[in-house]
Amino acid sequence: MRISGFRLQASGYRLQAPLNFGLPAGGSRPSNTGLRLKAPGFRPYFPDAGLIELAPSILSADFAHLAQQVERATAGGGSVIHVDIMDGHFVPNITIGPPVVKSLRKATRLPLDCHLMIENPDQYIEDFAEAGADWISVHQEATRHLNRTLSHIKHNGCRAGVVINPATPVETLSEVLDIVDYVLVMSVNPGFGGQKFIPSVLGKVRKLAEIRAERGYGYQIEIDGGVALDTVSEVVRAGAEILVAGSAVFGHGDVTANAAALLEAAKRESLQRV
Ligand code: DX5
Ligand code: ZN
Repeated sequence: MRISGFRLQASGYRLQAPLNFGLPAGGSRPSNTGLRLKAPGFRPYFPDAGLIELAPSILSADFAHLAQQVERATAGGGSVIHVDIMDGHFVPNITIGPPVVKSLRKATRLPLDCHLMIENPDQYIEDFAEAGADWISVHQEATRHLNRTLSHIKHNGCRAGVVINPATPVETLSEVLDIVDYVLVMSVNPGFGGQKFIPSVLGKVRKLAEIRAERGYGYQIEIDGGVALDTVSEVVRAGAEILVAGSAVFGHGDVTANAAALLEAAKRESLQRV
């Protein structure tokens, strides 16, 4: 089925048109030039401006009981499931691939936010979309043709995000900010959970919020790394809306209570911001 030039979201289906209508779909599979129709199980996502969301990162979860861990984090208010994909090349760690995403897809109706910390992400976008990813983000540092890759993600029916490492300036994104659905600011160097929050990245969160307001763009701002009860206030104050948290949710104690406490602290701060 091929429809181009518009976006339709209704009745549990989403059709996503390519961003650059003149361009063929990028990536390694030239046959995939059509649009992907998401299955009826797909959960449409309509973000509210300023809404704070908690995205529990399963990196710190007990992988032997993944479905139960996700359920517990959801009960505490997690509304997006953050899935860290690492290849041992772009980052010095190896995690999971499409088969685990496919299993997770059956275990939750929440959006699966796949954070690709891999080289050559174009090669795998279709696989993750097919496995059930709803959001796919790629690192600016790992992506040679960023515009094409973001188009490719959208072509596959997913929300498209771009990620920057702590040492990468916001300016490197200036030519894609009008087309991304979300920007993920890394507040640790990617590769591992449980690292210390790097406060200097907050300036980049503030800058992204300013640019969005000035230019009328629609991206959400996500932050990832070291988000916990002691850092969440400053993160929300700076303007982050989607808060990824791994060890603060799954690392100790009661997962549901941890998620609820973090979300509550974040919402309290966001109310003060208004
Ligand atoms: C790190 C990952 C994070 C990680 C965050 O490379 O991208 O998503 O799970 O873990 P915490 O919240 O423990 O810093
Ligand atoms: Zn992540």
